[in-house]
Amino acid sequence: MYDYLLIAHAWWRWVVLLAGIAAICTAVRGLVQGLPWAGSVSYCGKLFGLAVDVQFLMGASLYLVFSPLTNVALNVAKGLPAGSDLLFFGVYHGLIMTVAFIDVHVSTVIVRRGRSDAAKHRRSVLLYGQTLLIIIATTPWWRPLFPTH
Ligand code: HEM
Repeated sequence: MYDYLLIAHAWWRWVVLLAGIAAICTAVRGLVQGLPWAGSVSYCGKLFGLAVDVQFLMGASLYLVFSPLTNVALNVAKGLPAGSDLLFFGVYHGLIMTVAFIDVHVSTVIVRRGRSDAAKHRRSVLLYGQTLLIIIATTPWWRPLFPTH
């Protein structure tokens, strides 16, 4: 189960990344072309939120149940060697990605409350851009990019 979940979590990063880029690009296009806040534009933001939800669920299951790395890390939380995978996955990755998970949903609410279509587009670019940056910065890019086993 651990292997399958880790592979799914690793591959799903690409879905999160593409959904985030799509949300930002459609908002930029809406802003530049003065499009109304409707259809695919608002839909892309929701898809980004959904993609992060799925990733969060897989990550939390790994963190709390399946990952031997974090199980060990939780038991020896003090004194983890700096720069180690134990410290990264045991502390930073889960914590900061949880912030990204909350951030994407708070962003969706703030975007929806924009007073005009242009304001909603602008907020999408800034806020979804911020979420995507947090995710990119906390993704372990040194792990396999397309793992198969
Ligand atoms: C959008 C958010 C996230 C992205 C893009 C992401 C990405 C990744 C990637 C690429 C890996 C490496 C997979 C591999 O080695 O094949 C990984 C591992 C892991 N992630 Fe995430 N992750 C996210 C959110 C989370 C969250 C919210 C948690 C926990 C609450 C979490 C917990 C873990 C754990 C425990 C591991 C693996 C540790 C091990 O090797 O056993 N992730 N993540």
